[in-house]
Amino acid sequence: MLICILGRQPGLSVAELEATAGSEYIQSVGSDYAIVKCEPTKLLQQELGGVIKIAEIITTVRSLRWGRVFSVSRDKIVRYMIGIAEGTDRKLELGLSVYGLFVRPEQLSELSFAIKKKLKATGYSVHVSLSKDLALNSASVIHNGLTDRLGSEFLLIAGPEETYIARTLSVQDIDRYSKRDFSRPKRDTVVGMLPPKLAQIMLNLAKVTADRTVLDPFCGTGVVLMEAALKHAKIEGSDIDPKMIEYTKSNLDWLSKEYGLDIDIKLTCADATTHKWHDRVDCVVSETYLGRPLSYQPSRESLKTTVDECNALVTKFLTNLRPQLGPESRCCIAVPTWSSPQGLIHLPVVDHLDDLGYNRVGFLHTKVDQLVYRRPDQIVARELLVLTPK
Ligand SMILES: C[S@@+](CC[C@H](N)C(=O)[O-])C[C@H]1O[C@@H](n2cnc3c(N)ncnc32)[C@H](O)[C@@H]1O
Repeated sequence: MLICILGRQPGLSVAELEATAGSEYIQSVGSDYAIVKCEPTKLLQQELGGVIKIAEIITTVRSLRWGRVFSVSRDKIVRYMIGIAEGTDRKLELGLSVYGLFVRPEQLSELSFAIKKKLKATGYSVHVSLSKDLALNSASVIHNGLTDRLGSEFLLIAGPEETYIARTLSVQDIDRYSKRDFSRPKRDTVVGMLPPKLAQIMLNLAKVTADRTVLDPFCGTGVVLMEAALKHAKIEGSDIDPKMIEYTKSNLDWLSKEYGLDIDIKLTCADATTHKWHDRVDCVVSETYLGRPLSYQPSRESLKTTVDECNALVTKFLTNLRPQLGPESRCCIAVPTWSSPQGLIHLPVVDHLDDLGYNRVGFLHTKVDQLVYRRPDQIVARELLVLTPK
């Protein structure tokens, strides 16, 4: 049984897991974890934008009391560490992370000392990594070799009435995301750029796999297409701005060199509200125009103008796209939504998707209103519409 530690927006992460593993395999969901009943090979860490760590549950303690969790985890972890160290020079790396349990950092240190002591008594030496935040971040796990042959990170995760003890199998490699985000040749902060992790979540919500073709009709700097190329999907893009087509080309060239990929891309300068792509468009994954960037709360009138402008564009785009979709098409479209003192202001078209010929896909463990990507300080957020043709 696997347990996934979810990213900053757990609703999006759970929906991504549902789309990737299948809703029926999600056994239970907590505020920062999801238990998934599947083989580790089914969940590819490097393709899951919303999952911070994937771990294997090694035991469940039917208690949330620290005294009980302490003794069971100490004994389990010692046995596990001895098992992996057999036939080696007996130098081990250990990391401990806690999620949701009421524990002080000193109590976690005590556990690490107790484990160290027992291991020392059997002839093993161990270096322990802990964080004052109680959970090690992905960079520390990688840096301290905790997913290597002689390293282990153990997670103590509070469920509703039990504690899961799990061993980390993989963690999100932040450096690789940062490289794609900040080292690609072309960026444009004015049009806005999708974080690569969010692009991955969207591709997974659209169930993009290597045998499918992804169209991004608002391709901008090409982030969606870059992440789709890394999944070995076929890719196609368009944008109304010729400069953006050049940017996407440069970024894909860079990606192909960095990752040794042979990328075949069709790029067109076109208006997404009128262009004809094909008769049978497969997966559409795209972030539409989000309106002008806002760094402060606009007046009601000015916000209404922006909402109306974006609503007209998204309505025309979805109307134009619908007859071109194949019966098996699946789309994930990020549209703008705005935070205001009254709560989120959605595009009116979101309530009329049915009239435009689309089903909005729902999820078993995630409510649709959780499918919003939003940084706490931002006014413009992105609402994800997962759509299939009716
Ligand atoms: C928010 S940006 C997309 C950014 C992109 N996801 C990225 O990561 O770089 C929206 C893009 O839509 C394009 N755009 C605006 N109106 C359009 C239209 N009617 N048809 C096609 N593209 C349009 C803009 O040129 C811009 O590149």
